[in-house]
Amino acid sequence: METSGRSRLVTHCRVCGAADWQEVVSFGSVPLANAFLDPATSYEDEARFPLGVISCRSCRLMSLTHVVDPEVMYRTYFYVTSDSESITRHMRYVAQTCTSRFALGEDELVVEMGSNTGAQLLAFRPGGQRVLGVDPALNLAATANAHGVLTLPEYFSDRTAARIRNGHGQARLILGRHVFAHVDDLADVAAGVRRLLARDGVFAIEVPYALDLVERVAFDTVYHEHLSYFLVGTLAELFDRHGLRLFDVERLPVHGGSILAFVGLREGPWEQQGSVAELFAAEQAAGLHQDAAYGEFAHKVARVRQELPRLVRGLVAQGARVAGYGASAKGTTLLNICGIGADELQFCSDTTVLKQGKVLPGTHVPVCSPQSAAAEPPDYYLLLAWNYADEILEKERRFLDNGGRFILPVPEPVVLSAGARATTPT
Ligand code: TYD
Ligand code: ZN
Repeated sequence: METSGRSRLVTHCRVCGAADWQEVVSFGSVPLANAFLDPATSYEDEARFPLGVISCRSCRLMSLTHVVDPEVMYRTYFYVTSDSESITRHMRYVAQTCTSRFALGEDELVVEMGSNTGAQLLAFRPGGQRVLGVDPALNLAATANAHGVLTLPEYFSDRTAARIRNGHGQARLILGRHVFAHVDDLADVAAGVRRLLARDGVFAIEVPYALDLVERVAFDTVYHEHLSYFLVGTLAELFDRHGLRLFDVERLPVHGGSILAFVGLREGPWEQQGSVAELFAAEQAAGLHQDAAYGEFAHKVARVRQELPRLVRGLVAQGARVAGYGASAKGTTLLNICGIGADELQFCSDTTVLKQGKVLPGTHVPVCSPQSAAAEPPDYYLLLAWNYADEILEKERRFLDNGGRFILPVPEPVVLSAGARATTPT
């Protein structure tokens, strides 16, 4: 069911206001990546929304072509911050690096937008800061509150910021991990940040890095929740327009390649570091300020969309059992836009209890627990959570030693067997 009433076409750039877009890729109509369904006999009512990427020729923001009403996506949300080892370690790192770099003292206020179940804020416990979460998902905010992380069940906005300031005072740190790319009205969030931040406060955001998206052909990270794909140059321009300053940036391997960007008030004490100019230069060197690089990216995407289904169908035709590993949002996206579904995949294994027993959006592949998957392992796992490849290959050593294989979908489909030697499929 195409539900155009609850999505709108993007006309002007949400960073610079221009309306000169380069069309990059278009994936047709796709279900929401985290809208898991209960098993049913008919899925006729399943909502689908247009999905495509455009690039602003003025500031080089990569944006979705359409914005889906956030109320549809976020009020009940199945995405829970993964309790994987690497993410837990990463959250500890974020807390530690912010605490030491910015000398966060005990009792200073740390606010997190998109705080999910509160796991990141809990990492500030040892430092003794006061923490406050803000997350519109009613189910997740309730879980966070039950864990003892005070959480407002709201979107972060200028209005929310005003309320927080009145009730809790100014923030020394405002965090937003993997939430800023989900925001349509960036001016409203920026105004809220200006209002809430102490003069020497820091706004730290972690976003998927557009340079990594292009270089790794990570087109499966393109789904309705991710409205924006940022370059450092674009972020610098954005904050400059709103009285803020991007003063430092760090590249990180999480979620397939991200940046942790540090932003202060323009009149604040934080001086811009060399990292900002360095990454800006890398983006220029990669050609990301010209059309050609995006054309090349689209070409590589088209190749994966052709080769991956051919590979998987070929294996199934030979009698191999294939299943999905990790019911990630990017996995759902990948399957839907590559046309791989329940005819090819027997099941999809996932550690998230909330997802188990449901079916994947669009493809309706059943999600099961790793325990039941291990009882009848497939011959091949299509690695839908490839951002955790190292951790998963390590964990699944037994499966590999018993002759099992993994298919890595991007940047180009590759089959991995024991010894983790990559063999390019023929
Ligand atoms: P996630 O990395 O959160 O990505 P996305 O933003 O695309 O949803 O998704 C990873 C999914 O994979 C999540 O549902 C948990 C699951 N998972 C496993 O099933 N086993 C694992 O070992 C790991 C690390 C993750
Ligand atoms: Zn722009």
